[in-house]
Amino acid sequence: MPELPIFPEQASTVAGRVDAVFYALLGLSGLFIGLIFASALYFIIKYRRGSGADRVSPVFADLRLELIWIVIPLFLGLGTFTWAANVYFDIRRPPEGAIEIYVVGKQWMWKVQHPEGLSEINELHVPLGRPVKLIMTSQDVIHSFFVPAFRIKMDVLPGRYTTTWFEATKPGEYHLFCAEYCGTQHSGMGGQVIVMEPDQYQAWLAGEITPERATPASPRSMGAMGEALFQELGCNSCHLADGSGVGPSLIGQFGQTVRLQSGETVSIDEEYVRQSVLEPNAQVVAGYEPVMPSFRDQVSEEELMQLIAYIKSLGN
Ligand code: CUA
Repeated sequence: MPELPIFPEQASTVAGRVDAVFYALLGLSGLFIGLIFASALYFIIKYRRGSGADRVSPVFADLRLELIWIVIPLFLGLGTFTWAANVYFDIRRPPEGAIEIYVVGKQWMWKVQHPEGLSEINELHVPLGRPVKLIMTSQDVIHSFFVPAFRIKMDVLPGRYTTTWFEATKPGEYHLFCAEYCGTQHSGMGGQVIVMEPDQYQAWLAGEITPERATPASPRSMGAMGEALFQELGCNSCHLADGSGVGPSLIGQFGQTVRLQSGETVSIDEEYVRQSVLEPNAQVVAGYEPVMPSFRDQVSEEELMQLIAYIKSLGN
């Protein structure tokens, strides 16, 4: 069949499901447009001036008709809502055990860090058939991470993390776009997602494929880079492992829920760690003094992500 390039390729597990919802909505809209136009046309002709149609006893109400046009659209509406919401929830919730890859958007490029320590720009290498979760932020304005072939699009915002996930189903290269106008070079802010067979991906991670892309001889994992930073910045002098320090121990804390001074509880996720580094006194853990200085001007977005990877590596 010759290809009609209106729709991008379906290259992720959700692509077919997203398209099915889209086609169903398109079909339903088409059906109702057809019904409305056909009946309009029918009545225009039937009651045109000079026609012999019966105008003597007009119908003002018909309960059966009203029930039909209330009940059928009600079920159609609820049905498509349930269906689409179900697809949406699956797109929003990354499955357990997904590979976590960190993305920073800036004017005008995408910077990607793999947990194994590799970085790339405007390219994202991923293995086939494995869920991949992206943890994203921007270091300047709002961008939007968009891969049409995967049917995913997520805003990338300064000052917070957003996530999205996908599982690629076909090896190949797929366009990656910025889908939020972010300045003069916005249209050039794109790249490729490269989906590889799992063994090829391992080889790529090890630097055996495209070695010119500056894989150091022994790349340090993001967690190891974060650990080095943790010491450089002196975090380790207060966050002692045994909990006897000025700040709480971070061992086994990621993913836990803690009580704050204010009495509220908060779950220790990426967002909380980020905030604790930049605005440490905003949400202080109960039992500790608000004495930590802000590291706002000392760590970049990439380094924050490395610190987060390190804290994650301490278990949960
Ligand atoms: Cu970044 Cu548009």
